[in-house]
Amino acid sequence: MRKKSRLAAIGCGGRTQTYMSIAATLPEHYENVAVADPVAVRREAMRTISGNADIALYHDDKDILSVPKLADVMIIGTQDDYHVEPCLRAMEAGYDILLEKPIAPTMAEVRELADAAKCLDRRVLVCHVLRYTPFYKKVKEIIDSGALGAVESVNAREGVGAWHQAHSYVRGHWAVTDKCSPMIIAKSCHDLDILYWLIGRPCKSVASYGGLSHFTENNKPEGSPLRCTDGCPLGLDCMYNALHYMDRNRELLHLVMDGGAAAAPDEIEAWLRQSPWGRCVYSCDNTAVDHQVVAMEFEGGVTATFTMTAFDEGRSIEIFGTKARLVGGAAYKETCGDDIVVTDHADGRQVRHNVEFDDLGYSGHGGGDFGLMQALHEEMRCSAPEQMLSSIHTSVMSHAMGFAAEKARLTGTTVRVEDFECKE
Ligand SMILES: NC(=O)c1ccc[n+]([C@@H]2O[C@H](COP(=O)([O-])OP(=O)(O)OC[C@H]3O[C@@H](n4cnc5c(N)ncnc54)[C@H](O)[C@@H]3O)[C@@H](O)[C@H]2O)c1
Repeated sequence: MRKKSRLAAIGCGGRTQTYMSIAATLPEHYENVAVADPVAVRREAMRTISGNADIALYHDDKDILSVPKLADVMIIGTQDDYHVEPCLRAMEAGYDILLEKPIAPTMAEVRELADAAKCLDRRVLVCHVLRYTPFYKKVKEIIDSGALGAVESVNAREGVGAWHQAHSYVRGHWAVTDKCSPMIIAKSCHDLDILYWLIGRPCKSVASYGGLSHFTENNKPEGSPLRCTDGCPLGLDCMYNALHYMDRNRELLHLVMDGGAAAAPDEIEAWLRQSPWGRCVYSCDNTAVDHQVVAMEFEGGVTATFTMTAFDEGRSIEIFGTKARLVGGAAYKETCGDDIVVTDHADGRQVRHNVEFDDLGYSGHGGGDFGLMQALHEEMRCSAPEQMLSSIHTSVMSHAMGFAAEKARLTGTTVRVEDFECKE
């Protein structure tokens, strides 16, 4: 029998909880052995979430890395601005790494980590979970089969969803870009990574436009207080009313409120009175954009566009090949259902590819969370670190695309990704 992978984690927030709870359902592959988090209630909760009541608990990254190596793989599940240091130290301590995206808040640090992984010969798998979804795996398979002919152009779209935008990018962890990373990296590095993977060529240059238009003080209704809990006169009609965390919008609450999943309404209201998530969405300190487009040119003249908007739900893709066109995803739900549809240019014949979802495991990120954990065990055994589907080495390109796109947006110029990757 093949040896199990022992998992440890730095940071016990939403992501680590997801990965370790999935690992607990795959006991033939994984053993959750240790975690670290300065917040006692979060690390204690891991006794249940990890399926290992005896899991070793440490106060923080320094604490867990001060003892001899405990596991095969260290999950780096801290926030965006604190990946580099624990990832470097864990690699030096001999761990292979499951590293949350974004790799780091600057391109220089992305490079530093990729170089360190190479130098130390560590496997670093970046959590670009979309590569492990049944949907995008099928799209890649169709492209590779030659059914589309040569891919000439791609349009991709990501609808973040208005409440999700408000939760994460107006009130939440990724609202103030100086403290984390720009939206095109924080959220959409997934999408740029998928474009790079599907097109299979380096991106040469990018242009980008977009900004923050809606979630600003200019749109604040007259008379609304700073917090929704302070008796907003428009509360009944406002879809962003934070009191909806108590009823129709509970699903994201447990990710930010310890004990939120089982909290009573009065406990949630008390929490909203003092937490960032109780603020009026038009009175926050947010700088993340609520819409952005990126135009890209890849090697060989292949072009792509990507649109991120707060005001749509779900991801979609259109691929234009010399033989056929492929469409699928949220924008095509009404006409295509869950199918990816390939239409031949010559005779209009359509082939529909149904993408099966397993309801239990495939709920997170379109099945990507489960797919990634299913794959991790084998990925960590492949002969060379660069061969992992989502290795840090392949992720350098999508991060360079994202940082270059942000520079393009801020400066109103076209930015060459190659130059950017080398110099910044
Ligand atoms: N792959 C994806 O699709 C995906 C989705 C969401 C978030 N993310 C990324 O995953 C990362 C984690 O996100 P999250 O939502 O789980 O965050 P979170 O805020 O819920 O969890 C981070 C945890 O790290 C802990 N922490 C802080 N300093 C620490 C230290 N020195 N040692 C140990 N623990 C420490 C915090 O107490 C917190 O519990 C972020 O970088 C985020 O951008 C990725």
